[in-house]
Amino acid sequence: MEEDEIEHTEEENENEEITEEVHSDFEYKDIKDLPGVGSTIASKIRNAGYQDVIALATANPLVLTEACGIGEPTARKIVAEAREASKMNFMSGLEFEDKRKSVQRISTSSEALNILLGGGVETQSITECYGEYGSGKSQLAFQLAVDVQLPLEKGGLEGHAIWIDTEGTFRPSRIEQLAAVKGLDPKQALQNIKIGRAYSSDHQVLLVDKVPELINADPKIKLIVVDSMMALFRAEYVGRGTLADRQQKVNVVLHNLQRLADRFNVAVYITNQVMARPDVMFGDPTAAVGGHIIGHVATYRIYLRKGKKGSRVGKLVDSPSLPEGEASFEITSNGITDLEEEKKK
Ligand code: GTP
Ligand code: MG
Repeated sequence: MEEDEIEHTEEENENEEITEEVHSDFEYKDIKDLPGVGSTIASKIRNAGYQDVIALATANPLVLTEACGIGEPTARKIVAEAREASKMNFMSGLEFEDKRKSVQRISTSSEALNILLGGGVETQSITECYGEYGSGKSQLAFQLAVDVQLPLEKGGLEGHAIWIDTEGTFRPSRIEQLAAVKGLDPKQALQNIKIGRAYSSDHQVLLVDKVPELINADPKIKLIVVDSMMALFRAEYVGRGTLADRQQKVNVVLHNLQRLADRFNVAVYITNQVMARPDVMFGDPTAAVGGHIIGHVATYRIYLRKGKKGSRVGKLVDSPSLPEGEASFEITSNGITDLEEEKKK
């Protein structure tokens, strides 16, 4: 087997400088940032199915040699570097506290809902919004994708957004409308959102894998929307008796999203439709489609339902740090707002 080149072109070094800045407080780097891994080897590694440094750190060097067609010494070196780079999985309580200090929040445009969420939708966390058809899950996503772009004093992060659309329900006109209401340039607001339309659950997995690349190219990205998380999985796995497979795959996507949230200090907002279950007589007649899997991964879960006079009610469910509670708001042509009576308080 030929000796593998240790790639280090000037272009690579330039890239490294850029990524260094972006990655400074992350737990681990991208595969191509590992010493001795250039873009050629990195793509061989990815093609062999190792998507990130953690996957590499736990790889068997011999299997890697075979799968990537690289020399065994190189494979051993790469695995060792990956282990080194991912060693920071433990941090002291103080370091943890520091990391928590960098958590930022995106306003939902409803003061009541912001308060319920402890200030808004958090970075470093997954916020899952579940509810029935028309309850406002996507509307909240549109609002967040606009509000994230606002200056800090207006509840934003001067940030950009990624939107993974699995149902074909992204509406540019709605973004433009909401942006105009907030005094943003509507076309610029649209420009600041990268939309990926997923056509299958595999495609959805790939789009999520693409996110680090997008954030490295645009470090202003502060929000990732997945609307909806389960639609494709549900459609594809229906009646196939492969629920375990499905959940396994959903679990991988969710953990990848959580890692992205941590690593890049971004907020992840996912939606999940619930079906009314008329057969259930006691307890909650609606159950989140993803079942318990999402519940265990998402840090914040909002159950949305329609309230009186066209209002919406968000209920915070199973939050580790916030009290359970409810917040009422409205969806109008101007977007999410507090109810008139709440505003007067
Ligand atoms: P599914 O994706 O079907 O599960 O529903 P969803 O929860 O994503 O619902 P969505 O966020 O699309 O909410 C749709 C609802 O928002 C509509 O039924 C309207 O009540 C409300 N809505 C959307 N646009 C407007 C608008 O311009 N003006 C007003 N007043 N309400 C709107
Ligand atoms: Mg929707």
